[in-house]
Amino acid sequence: MAHPVLPLSLDRSSDLPLVLQVANQTRELVHTGSLRPGDRLPSIRALAADVGIARAVVEHAYDQLIAEGWLTARRGAGTYVAQVGRLAVLTGARGSPTTATVNAGTGGSDPSGSNKAGSDPVRLDTGSPWMDPRHDAGWRRAWREVSAAHIPRGYPDPAGLPELRAELAAYVSRTRGVSCTAEEVIVTGGTTHGFGLLLDVLTRGPIAIEDPGYRAAAAVTEQAGRAVIDVPLDSDGLDVRALRSNRADIRAVYVTPAHQHPLGITMSAGRRIALLAEATRRGAMVVEDDYDSEFRYDVAPMPALAALDRDRVIYLGSASKSVHPGLRIGWLIGPVDLVVAMSARRATRHDYPPWPLQRAFLSMLREGHLDKLVRSARRVYAGRSHVVAHALSPYGKIISRPAGMYLTVALPGRLVEAVRTESWRAGFDVPSLAEYSRTCGMTGLVIGFGGLTDEELSRALDVMTTALARLSG
Ligand SMILES: Cc1ncc(COP(=O)(O)O)c(C=O)c1O
Repeated sequence: MAHPVLPLSLDRSSDLPLVLQVANQTRELVHTGSLRPGDRLPSIRALAADVGIARAVVEHAYDQLIAEGWLTARRGAGTYVAQVGRLAVLTGARGSPTTATVNAGTGGSDPSGSNKAGSDPVRLDTGSPWMDPRHDAGWRRAWREVSAAHIPRGYPDPAGLPELRAELAAYVSRTRGVSCTAEEVIVTGGTTHGFGLLLDVLTRGPIAIEDPGYRAAAAVTEQAGRAVIDVPLDSDGLDVRALRSNRADIRAVYVTPAHQHPLGITMSAGRRIALLAEATRRGAMVVEDDYDSEFRYDVAPMPALAALDRDRVIYLGSASKSVHPGLRIGWLIGPVDLVVAMSARRATRHDYPPWPLQRAFLSMLREGHLDKLVRSARRVYAGRSHVVAHALSPYGKIISRPAGMYLTVALPGRLVEAVRTESWRAGFDVPSLAEYSRTCGMTGLVIGFGGLTDEELSRALDVMTTALARLSG
């Protein structure tokens, strides 16, 4: 039987690996409807021969798109386009709706009173990254460059240093498939700061947030005087049907599609399409918190949601996971009208990151320091994630994908509390899933493994598994 021919045009001189070129162009054919749900793709052998590339390249590209949910493989019957909606139904709805208290869930909680040493326990924090000491030189070089730089005259551009905005636009396009210009980028003091800036200019009204979800986003929403609408999740990500049935005049939906915080699942391709369609129907924005997408270790990270709809999605990136949370630098990418509105407000308050910091971060990006940090941390996280999964999988279901710097395991509530109490006594604060939720009844542990030493992690796992083995009988 004749096989379909894919109109791929590969550039062998490009820096983009052939696997990504094949995956990106095939994904685009699905986005645009050239390939429709149920269509059969050429076999690996046929496509490799058609385009003149190795079979392994096609195989990797297909595996990537299967992992992302755009394609499905039927045993012995080939590879097909999955049943996802078409992006075409979303276009035409341009324009963005612009005009105009608590610990955020990162602090520890005391399950039992006192711990062994009477000192602060080591928190298995989901947000603390591992720092590769071999890359200290890159950090120092960046700051040396700042000290030698010509000091600019007057107040800086409130949207951020133009060179940094351009560099960030290139970075996000290269790493997350979001093609944008420097004018669409605003340099922030991190994700939460960027989200606060956005809430200042977004039409008043409630914000929908995943539950369980990033509690800091809920806190920022409430501090801005807005209501939080909790939306549940299922294994594909935010439950769009539950969102659809909510009557509130929701102005934005805050999601973590690449690596849902704290469940660690990836939003499927179909769910992405459905979410964008629902946001479009409501005239609401989607806020994409892309906090740790660099750290996917089995397949390449799925392109950002913002790559699917540049008018509807506000993208939030941060250096908190890749460089250091104390740096306080991040980036927001959105429609130019929003960026201009945010910059205008900022100009009066001067609440932008100081230029030496922006200048140092620019150097880290240009010199490849950030890429090196990400590469080495990814290797460490892959190893640690494997160790944690291996230790805990006999006792509960590992919910999270192999990504990021934490792992989420479902456990009955009584085990969660007992493990947390014993860990606390031994000097470890292990976060419970309930800390990230207001309405969801799921119970489990969220084990951050980035900010610890190997020895600390190994001791913490010993304490947890000993308790679990005893309690599970
Ligand atoms: C879900 C999520 N988003 C974003 C961030 C980073 O926030 P920021 O850039 O404000 O440090 C974190 C940090 O822990 C997080 O867990």
